[in-house]
Amino acid sequence: MASSTLISDTEQWKELKAHVADIKKTHLRDLLRDDARSQSMTVEFDGILLDYSRQQATLETVGKLFKLAEAASLKQKIGRMYNGEHINSTENRSVLHVALRASRDAVIQSDGKNVVPDVWKVLDKIKEFSERVRSGSWVGATGKQLKDVVAIGIGGSFLGPLFVHTALQTDPEASESSRGRQLRFLANVDPIDVARNITGLNPETTLVVVVSKTFTTAETMLNARTLREWISSALGPSAVAKHMVAVSTNLTLVEKFGIDPNNAFAFWDWVGGRYSVCSAVGVLPLSLQYGFPVIEKFLKGASSIDQHVHSEPFERNIPVLLGLLSVWNVSFLGYPARAILPYSQALEKLAPHIQQVSMESNGKGVSIDGVPLPFEAGEIDFGEPGTNGQHSFYQLIHQGRVIPCDFIGVVKSQQPVYLKGEVVSNHDELMSNFFAQPDALAYGKTPEQLQKENVPPHLVAHKTFTGNRPSVSLLLPSLNAYNIGQLLAIYEHRVAVQGFIWNINSFDQWGVELGKSLATQVRKQLNASHTKKEPIQGFNFSTTTMLTRYLQ
Ligand code: F6P
Repeated sequence: MASSTLISDTEQWKELKAHVADIKKTHLRDLLRDDARSQSMTVEFDGILLDYSRQQATLETVGKLFKLAEAASLKQKIGRMYNGEHINSTENRSVLHVALRASRDAVIQSDGKNVVPDVWKVLDKIKEFSERVRSGSWVGATGKQLKDVVAIGIGGSFLGPLFVHTALQTDPEASESSRGRQLRFLANVDPIDVARNITGLNPETTLVVVVSKTFTTAETMLNARTLREWISSALGPSAVAKHMVAVSTNLTLVEKFGIDPNNAFAFWDWVGGRYSVCSAVGVLPLSLQYGFPVIEKFLKGASSIDQHVHSEPFERNIPVLLGLLSVWNVSFLGYPARAILPYSQALEKLAPHIQQVSMESNGKGVSIDGVPLPFEAGEIDFGEPGTNGQHSFYQLIHQGRVIPCDFIGVVKSQQPVYLKGEVVSNHDELMSNFFAQPDALAYGKTPEQLQKENVPPHLVAHKTFTGNRPSVSLLLPSLNAYNIGQLLAIYEHRVAVQGFIWNINSFDQWGVELGKSLATQVRKQLNASHTKKEPIQGFNFSTTTMLTRYLQ
């Protein structure tokens, strides 16, 4: 496909459009009778099992999706990403988060330079620094050990690290290595978030890590100034050197802020914010909390999936299959949302992280060459861990709107509990729901079944489940640092695959700019009103009224 061609103009897209009518005549209840189909729709890689037999799809559908992938030059696009080509064309940048977790001897080029040695230089620096802090050879201004870390950052400089931190907290190895330490995240510019994060912390024992790719993000910089003040008012301005470090691509601004560039950890413009958890953005705070060896395992898990995506035939390629099926659900079956439903409390921050990875990447209205899309790209992601979600929004998923679901289960619990006298463990109880929900959605319950159960006639309609609601199931062997890395990379690549098929730029985010510049205008007005009592001007009636009330 020439890059200026809309994917929706291709024969392969049109064939899939026509194929929707065939699929609408099927029901998952019937499709699931065919064990051979189900077997073909199960894929295993490096301990992870994907079952997509509960998709509203036949093997013919999958074949047609592979043809669409060919029409979209998916293989070539993945190759161009790994080759460091400037596939983020609107920002003229490579997209190389895969290099962040590549092995030391790998060669990955950007602009004619192998970037892997630079990556490992920073990783080695993080290892050394985190070991010094953790062992107490780097101490605070009053000589006390730094046991607590506050990572300041927002968006991609926050959500990925928070997800990994939350997932690791109850992993036995990670919880052992983080004993006596705390990691907190300050993201929102809301002063309440500042208050919540510093409550109970002592500046003498706290290390602040300012994380910002640009080092210009308004929220992060204000929070950084606020915590700089918190430290210097308690310990004196010179204490900042011992209590504040930074992660950024902009080392000039780091120095200007007053952080010693020797205490700055670099990353590069070829790392997108939402794809940056494997850079110093995540690796530094997480290594301070859990130790570098644990985080190295996380990077290895992500790297295993990177190699899988790059080399595995599409028929057995987990992120490619997931990406293609998402395109099928969104663009052909017309389901705009997706629920992310991990049956593990440790994955409670997966959905918020994927919201950014997916929606900031694929929430676009034009093709990569600026042509308005005649179809909707992107999807609405949301989710909660099971079983909590079951007692909340699952009603809508079972009997209201059709929302394709990702069910994520884990074979071995991080924290198993076996009660005396009970054969079914607490984890078995959780997993019973993981196994039951996809079938409840797929099969539903018919009026005939209800009548056989003697349900009163006036309740039959209310108790009917139409079924035929699609899901995928991912089963992980356990949830250690390695598996968490695998899961992260599966989602990152799935999102990229979707963007490659839709032929959009999944790596820019111009949509966040307008709100930021309007906020700058309001900030200027507030400044002028506070300092010079200047009247409100330049805003519409509605905003003027609200601002007037606020300033009173
Ligand atoms: O929300 C927009 C955004 O640019 C994200 O893409 C990014 O992750 C976040 O802001 C934070 O940016 P920075 O790391 O430069 O502070």
